[in-house]
Amino acid sequence: MKKILVTGGAGYIGSHTVVELIEADYTPIIVDNLCNTSIQNIQGIEKIIDKKIKWHNTDCTDKSAMDKVFAEEGRMEGAIHFAAYKAVEESVQNPQKYYDNNMGSLKVLLQCMQENNVKNIIFSSSCTVYGMPDVLPVDENAPFKKAESPYGETKQLCEKMLKEDSCNSVALRYFNPVGSHSTALIGDCSADRPSNLVPIITEVAIGKREKITIFGNDYKTPDGTCIRDYIHVVDLAKSHVKAMEFLINNTGKHAFNVGTGIGVSVLDAIKAFEQTNKLSINYSIGPRRDGDIEQIYANSNLVKEKLGWEAKETLEKAMISAWEWEKLKE
Ligand SMILES: NC(=O)c1ccc[n+]([C@@H]2O[C@H](COP(=O)([O-])OP(=O)(O)OC[C@H]3O[C@@H](n4cnc5c(N)ncnc54)[C@H](O)[C@@H]3O)[C@@H](O)[C@H]2O)c1
Repeated sequence: MKKILVTGGAGYIGSHTVVELIEADYTPIIVDNLCNTSIQNIQGIEKIIDKKIKWHNTDCTDKSAMDKVFAEEGRMEGAIHFAAYKAVEESVQNPQKYYDNNMGSLKVLLQCMQENNVKNIIFSSSCTVYGMPDVLPVDENAPFKKAESPYGETKQLCEKMLKEDSCNSVALRYFNPVGSHSTALIGDCSADRPSNLVPIITEVAIGKREKITIFGNDYKTPDGTCIRDYIHVVDLAKSHVKAMEFLINNTGKHAFNVGTGIGVSVLDAIKAFEQTNKLSINYSIGPRRDGDIEQIYANSNLVKEKLGWEAKETLEKAMISAWEWEKLKE
């Protein structure tokens, strides 16, 4: 069984990936200090796989603590690095927190990997590296524009760090992950109030918020609202398994978009939630929000060609599972 270190494996995307790794016969080892998630996800993973999961309550920026993890775990096939802060608005208010954690954790991980002869790393990047692309759907050759936030900047800088390191790497540039595992036992446990569309929709649906404000309906899109590419988190999780298989058999530096290729407007996403869950969502139109780009969706041809991965789940299924998670989470 191939051991894979999964930093941030108790988080939203990490926990779903851990489940998929186990289903593909890997042995994931989680490193997470629970700074932005809950033990509920570890318990949820264990219920889904029906056994205990190995995890270290460790801060990835702490080199001596990470040395201990590597010493204890011995030979590992590779690492998947999810551990980072992800709240775009907070990164604008407190950039240093984001540089320290997001780049600091990658720096320590790369050092430990080098010292322990672990060669393969998958990095959680983001479509934010492109800013507002000139051509849609955006492909991997699009230039990195000036980052819209310190968070986006950390993703650009981390990709640069990977290129300069001796490791074999895959940067997966996620579009907008949504939904939850079909069991609703794992999901997004972020401590901060969500700023992503779907968690806000589910909070309105359950009554935690009165309404959702749509930031602008005067964009140059068919209904005037922003367009994004919503990717089911289980599909996204599976792309990591494919990327690990690829890295075990290939060397070098790689970057792949992970999206559906379908652009969905904010209004269409709300409608999809309302129709699939037979609920009505209270919303109003507000002014545009600083830093929001008009539209982005993926050209995912490369990931299909090189990894044999493509999105299979529908937005409707994602909306149903997002609602189930909202109802069941603690
Ligand atoms: N969710 C999104 O919309 C999205 C989009 C693009 C990229 N990403 C990236 O994907 C990755 C995972 O995102 P997510 O949505 O699962 O976020 P998340 O906050 O749910 O997961 C991140 C996990 O990392 C842990 N963590 C953070 N810093 C740590 C540290 N120093 N040491 C140990 N553990 C630490 C947190 O406790 C959390 O469990 C992040 O790198 C994020 O930037 C997320």
